Amino acid sequence: MLMNCELNCTRRNSCQSKTVDGLAKTYFPMQDLAHGEYEWKDPETEDEVVNITYIDKNGNKIPIRGKVGDNVLYLAHRYGIEMEGACEASLACTTCHVYVLGDFLEKLPPPEEKEDDLLDMAPFLKENSRLGCQIILKKEYEGMELQLPQATRNFYVDGHKPSH
Ligand code: FES
Repeated sequence: MLMNCELNCTRRNSCQSKTVDGLAKTYFPMQDLAHGEYEWKDPETEDEVVNITYIDKNGNKIPIRGKVGDNVLYLAHRYGIEMEGACEASLACTTCHVYVLGDFLEKLPPPEEKEDDLLDMAPFLKENSRLGCQIILKKEYEGMELQLPQATRNFYVDGHKPSH
């Protein structure tokens, strides 16, 4: 049972207690946290850990120890992975474009219409394209691989670079 918001939300809603994998836990006591601050926190228990791998533009695999609730855009920022995120997860750019490898694409919630519309404008669009800022880690994403495209296009604000 979910309370207040869905686990896969991007925390635009107020999030507090929820039941995850049958366990009642409070994963998101973060209403006072700015975007990205949560991802700077280490997992408190092994139950929270979600190991994923980013694959950069050069094909280098970068394993990352994330946790339930991490937004993969901000998690990438924490570890210096070049996922830009120009609009800072407000669904107004495509600079967080990633390819979700293997069968993990089917495990993700389907994209909102707005995400779909944006992806249509993304360079190097593929069947497994998603916007990274819309992917919030769950336990079932353990082992997920996310590959960065060769290039992204920033049409959010010309020249705007987020300060991480
Ligand atoms: Fe702009 Fe994801 S950071 S849509």
